[in-house]
Amino acid sequence: MLETGIDIIEVARIKKSIQASDRFKKRIFHPNEIDYCKSGSTEYQHYSARFAAKEATRKILLSYLPNNILKWDSIWIENEKNGKPIIKFSEEILKKINIINCSVSLSHIKELAIASVVMEFEIIKN
Ligand SMILES: CC(C)(COP(=O)(O)OP(=O)(O)OC[C@H]1O[C@@H](n2cnc3c(N)ncnc32)[C@H](O)[C@@H]1OP(=O)(O)O)[C@@H](O)C(=O)NCCC(=O)NCCS
Repeated sequence: MLETGIDIIEVARIKKSIQASDRFKKRIFHPNEIDYCKSGSTEYQHYSARFAAKEATRKILLSYLPNNILKWDSIWIENEKNGKPIIKFSEEILKKINIINCSVSLSHIKELAIASVVMEFEIIKN
């Protein structure tokens, strides 16, 4: 399968949810993402771009995998040394799909964040 997913989000919406509840932050974001996002004036832009990346990836995988294994913190972004983002998946997801290629791109401004994902993968038949 070769699939593409995209998502756009208002930074103010994510900022409001995070500020309202620490539980929201911990339920949605992987600890490595929280570490990456927490500093600086663009904190909520980083969180929002990651939220958009999760949504874009879920759009791809929801047609193939049950919703209960596509938990928010089972799909997360890490950044390579040069800043390039990559998507990481939980073991539970990796037991169900074999990822051949996966590419993500993030962009954010003060008000909006966007993520685009391209994935080539096959379903692992048990
Ligand atoms: C990478 C770059 C194109 C980002 O463009 P921008 O208009 O400033 O910002 P955008 O909002 O569009 O994109 C930001 C996202 O680009 C992504 N990005 C950063 N470096 C990247 C790279 N080398 N390759 C691909 N994507 C990259 C990140 O996901 C970042 O968001 P995040 O920090 O929340 O993960 C720009 O910063 C650039 O040209 N940098 C030159 C290299 C550099 O200075 N690197 C510094 C780290 S060593």
